[in-house]
Amino acid sequence: MPQTKDTFDSIANVYDRINNIISLGKHKKWKSNFINIAKFEGKVLDLATGTGDIISLIKDKYPNTDCTGIDPSIDMLRIARKKYKEIKFIESYAENLKYEDNYFDFVTISFGIRNTVSINDSLVEIRRVLKKNQLLLIMEFSKNNNILLKIITNLYLFFVIPFVGLLFGKFREYLYLSKSINNFYSPREFVKILEKNSFEVEKYESFNFGLVTIYKAKKL
Ligand SMILES: C[S@@+](CC[C@H](N)C(=O)[O-])C[C@H]1O[C@@H](n2cnc3c(N)ncnc32)[C@H](O)[C@@H]1O
Repeated sequence: MPQTKDTFDSIANVYDRINNIISLGKHKKWKSNFINIAKFEGKVLDLATGTGDIISLIKDKYPNTDCTGIDPSIDMLRIARKKYKEIKFIESYAENLKYEDNYFDFVTISFGIRNTVSINDSLVEIRRVLKKNQLLLIMEFSKNNNILLKIITNLYLFFVIPFVGLLFGKFREYLYLSKSINNFYSPREFVKILEKNSFEVEKYESFNFGLVTIYKAKKL
């Protein structure tokens, strides 16, 4: 599984800065809206945690939660650990979690499920470690079928994002990220995948011209 991990190791030092630029600072608002869709308690796992934005927002808002962030990129985790001392950051793939069944009360994953090696294996593992009737919250880019929006989105994905990557010496990595966004599912397709993995999708909502979608799903 090393390929995506290597990409993220290589961009770790510029990841937060480039995120601010390519989302025009909006990713912070998206992330705080994302954690507002549930009331967190107990054990919370943030998968593909990267530099730890989501799990730290949760810990700040719910200090009594027991928070863990997981990511295979040691360099992303190094930055996360510097920022947030009271959260456990652990190096691991979503497809192979070293936790017992029904361990976590919540699982979150923000802009990470599309980067996993196997979405299906990751969902099987998430389902295994999450307690029954508890929530999996996902935020991810999504495909849009509107032709005009598609043209605008493609300009953004294949010119703006790689160009910003280029300015930081990371053209190849940001082109990969754009391709992974472009190849991801539409919200309806992804809801079907969640349902196939025995999650009940209570709600899903797209924003930013349909480019980003939040899914709130319960383990059945
Ligand atoms: C686009 S970043 C998202 C980081 C963070 N969640 C955020 O919202 O800013 C995607 C993250 O997925 C991680 N990743 C890649 N493959 C993974 C896998 N198989 N399991 C878990 N995380 C993975 C990468 O290392 C990277 O940190």
